[in-house]
Amino acid sequence: MKGESGQDASLREAALRALDNAYAPYSNFRVGAALRARNGEVITGCNVENSVNGLAMCAETLAVGSAVSRGLTDFDEIAIVTDDSEPTPPCGACRQVLNEFAPNIKISSYTREGKEATWTLNELLPNAFVLNPSRGRV
Ligand code: THU
Repeated sequence: MKGESGQDASLREAALRALDNAYAPYSNFRVGAALRARNGEVITGCNVENSVNGLAMCAETLAVGSAVSRGLTDFDEIAIVTDDSEPTPPCGACRQVLNEFAPNIKISSYTREGKEATWTLNELLPNAFVLNPSRGRV
């Protein structure tokens, strides 16, 4: 379902629901993400922190892992929502994780108040590292 701005409101709402499940008692920076696979399925993730410093898992990366575990590896768009006052772009590690499956995925980031920013992954991670550039090609 596209809104007036052309953005996918249902993907944003799925990310918003995932945000409510974020477990971020250490940073208090809560993140929700929703990934739309090419077949239309929507898979969500939220950040999950841990008492051990450095074991925090990002929302976007968990969404990708969850999708791949269901056999989904083609993605069109990811929506991200945080409680911050400005739309948050994905961290460098999440950009690399997204690049593995969707090098030019559309990334839409939102605040709770509805501010939005969109990028393509290629804009945020140009000249990405790829170990085996021929992967997936015949
Ligand atoms: N975080 C994400 O979930 N995604 C990002 O792209 C940036 C950072 C989380 C990790 C940690 O739980 C918290 O935000 C603060 O870094």
